[in-house]
Amino acid sequence: MSGLSAALTINDLRQRARGRVPRMFFQYSDSGSWTESTFRANESEFDEIRFRQRVAVDMRDRSLATTLVGQPAAMPLAVGPAAICGLQVADGEIKAARAAEKFGIPFSLSTMSIGSIEDVAEATSKPFWFQLYMMRDKPFMERLIDRAKAARCSALIMTMDLQILGDRHADVRNGLSAPPKFNLNSISQIVTRPGWAFGMLGAKRRTFSNVVGHAQNVEDLGSLASWIAGQFDQSLTWKEVGWVKDRFGGPVIVKGILDTQDAQLAVSHGADAIVVSNHGGRQLDGAPSSIRVLPEIVDAVGHKTEILMDGGIRSGQHMLKALALGAKGVLLGRPVLYGLGAGGEAGVTRAFEIIRKEADVTMALLGERDVRNIGPHNIYSNDLVRQQGH
Ligand SMILES: Cc1cc2nc3c(=O)[nH]c(=O)nc-3n(C[C@H](O)[C@H](O)[C@H](O)COP(=O)(O)O)c2cc1C
Repeated sequence: MSGLSAALTINDLRQRARGRVPRMFFQYSDSGSWTESTFRANESEFDEIRFRQRVAVDMRDRSLATTLVGQPAAMPLAVGPAAICGLQVADGEIKAARAAEKFGIPFSLSTMSIGSIEDVAEATSKPFWFQLYMMRDKPFMERLIDRAKAARCSALIMTMDLQILGDRHADVRNGLSAPPKFNLNSISQIVTRPGWAFGMLGAKRRTFSNVVGHAQNVEDLGSLASWIAGQFDQSLTWKEVGWVKDRFGGPVIVKGILDTQDAQLAVSHGADAIVVSNHGGRQLDGAPSSIRVLPEIVDAVGHKTEILMDGGIRSGQHMLKALALGAKGVLLGRPVLYGLGAGGEAGVTRAFEIIRKEADVTMALLGERDVRNIGPHNIYSNDLVRQQGH
């Protein structure tokens, strides 16, 4: 076995990406904020949950199919929004969107993507989700929402936990600002990744294409840097959810919920779904892992809204554990970026295949045939699970 088929785990894809993507972009995807304790806990705390094995149950004809925010999904997984996919590999957003479309799962495009909303719409035929960061420039926000509507995006994700940036030391050390500052060090990182650099020469876009040419006075990389620095709206409150909903007219998914009161507020302000998330451990270091708070949020609002979660999903087993604790589905962050770095569209497809295979075999060993039936009965109660009343 060689190449991508030799990748049996998400970590195999990560190692492959590490050798192919310039260090500053690889580390951008691979790190968390400050001590990275939340980043690490997101994944490691899945180990505290143990499955309940059942035997002698007819395990033929298994199905992983479900719906996520009203959209059919081949498994309970969607690609989460991630900035600058297009710097992990040329045209990264388009490649990830195509992989998701072919696999039959929803794709989300970040506001801070390299490929634009229109690029992704043109390259795909199924609707995708668009993620909004609330910016101070209201006319720009209005146009952004209208563009998402015109591109037939089937949902908007409003990310609430990044109005100020958590310090990621790797990025500071690598001089990774927006736009990246190129110096001798970064140039040497690029020269040692010739495959990446060669691909980039043919890339459709190399800047934040949802912004440049669309926001007033942002025509080039220089003006973009100062625009971004001043634009994340620190006065954001819940009332903006209603404003976005009215303008968009379709489902709004509120992302970045870790607290039960916030979950209730999101629902009372009209969220059609929420994502339990700590931004992959990139914002408030010291916050709990997403899987730890998921059960209490399910208890609080699970009967009123659809609950998705993300953070630390690296296997099909993680996905099923999140379902057992009440999530309808999960979003995938870094594994998609590793897949892109490891092998573009095929690398992302490989990440999906790894997760699907693990989920399918695990379901069989749980004695379950339909993923929609996964629930608390599939796991043992323990400290992480019991304290939330399950
Ligand atoms: C490199 C990177 C960029 C990200 N950019 C965004 C973004 O632009 N918008 C957003 O809402 N979330 C963003 N996220 C957070 C992801 O959507 C998601 O919450 C997180 O990555 C999930 O954790 P995981 O990486 O452990 O799967 C980003 C995450 C990473 C790793």
